[in-house]
Amino acid sequence: MDTPIYDFVNDYANGTSVRAHMPGHKGRALPDCGFGDAFGYDITEICGADALFEAKGIIRQSEKNASDIFGTSETIYSAGGSTLCIQTMLAAVCGRGKAFICARNAHRSVINACVLLDLEPIWLYPEYKKGSAVSGEISPESVEDSIISNMDKRPACVFITSPDYLGKIYGIKEIAEVCHKYDIPLLVDNAHGAYLAFLENNLHPIALGADMCCDSAHKTLPVLTGGAYLHTGDRMKISAEELKRNMSLFGSTSPSYLVMESLDLCNKYLAYGIRKDLSETAQRINALKARLSPAYEILDSEPLKLTVNALSCGLSGNDLAARLRERKVEIEYSDAAHAVMMFSVMNTEEDLDRIASAMESIPMPRIRIEPPDIDIMPLKRALSPAEACFSPKERVNTENSLGKIAAETVSVCPPCVPVVTAGEIIDENTIKILKIYSIFQVNVIK
Ligand SMILES: Cc1ncc(COP(=O)(O)O)c(C=O)c1O
Repeated sequence: MDTPIYDFVNDYANGTSVRAHMPGHKGRALPDCGFGDAFGYDITEICGADALFEAKGIIRQSEKNASDIFGTSETIYSAGGSTLCIQTMLAAVCGRGKAFICARNAHRSVINACVLLDLEPIWLYPEYKKGSAVSGEISPESVEDSIISNMDKRPACVFITSPDYLGKIYGIKEIAEVCHKYDIPLLVDNAHGAYLAFLENNLHPIALGADMCCDSAHKTLPVLTGGAYLHTGDRMKISAEELKRNMSLFGSTSPSYLVMESLDLCNKYLAYGIRKDLSETAQRINALKARLSPAYEILDSEPLKLTVNALSCGLSGNDLAARLRERKVEIEYSDAAHAVMMFSVMNTEEDLDRIASAMESIPMPRIRIEPPDIDIMPLKRALSPAEACFSPKERVNTENSLGKIAAETVSVCPPCVPVVTAGEIIDENTIKILKIYSIFQVNVIK
């Protein structure tokens, strides 16, 4: 497996050319910079370096390597994370002003894309786990019901998030079959699941029948922050050029070469090294779960997440996260009930040992706390997300927002799952949930 982007930049970084081009650091770091070497590798679209949105050279070659490794029809890179891929996917598949079916536990970037493209999301509410606004169940039957009852709106696609924030993987294969029965493409936000392609049993959305998906490479693979893939499957007849044209509508014209180099270098690892490391890492995480499980209730999740129901041992998820922080363990996400850790092949055995010891040293009240009374319910929509977002707004106390139209999407952040989206009418239940998440002010339409 070659690494054309890294090789080109490495030669340039070690060459003698005077840099009479951007960026302004000229490959040199300021004194006392702890990461000085990186500057030499941070270049722009000089001759031979190709260009992400018009890639015909080393970037395109590297993307084709990634496509071969993942077994996709097309793979293109993003240096703007899954956020940019989500904007691109929705622009490419929906265009402007269309309707699409979207699982409600979507990331904020999906709602923002609706605003930018004036899309109308037809919400598909998961059966939420008790006490959670972020994770639930989406059955193929509920997808089919939604398709059938919204035929008149001609939904351009079905969009779901899998894995979700607590590590739940949805039934992509069965959901894809339903979508294909009605000739509707299935798009998956696989931001948390790039590594799924390298498990013994390939669980990547494209392998399971999704038509398009985004993977935040940076979330679960050894790639710099911002590095992501947009993949298509065989049924999706859309060229890389067309995808890139859409991506260029939203992305910076100066995508980071450091990020692209890290994606390029990662290909070699994905092709030759990751499977064995991943299998060992997954075994170690399983062992960690087993070691902790009598004391903590560990919920089912994808292999690289450890999701704890902290309530079962008398703590809130946020309390558990704070106690771990005191013990020098920083976790990915916590809420009133859950604490979620994310691992990758780069975590060492010692890391996992330290986590086990830290968790074992936390004194626990052991009085089971009931989950917060959260029941996410459908809301009435008065305006489209775009109309609401660009209307005059005012800030009011949450308790005074009853009956008003939300002028912004209010999310539980992280992980940015909307409680109310721009254009929806705030009801009593919404106010209750916002308060549970300590959101005491909201923007509403004037
Ligand atoms: C489910 C999900 N989708 C999309 C995103 C956006 O990904 P990125 O940070 O790569 O832009 C995130 C980020 O946390 C996420 O959790």
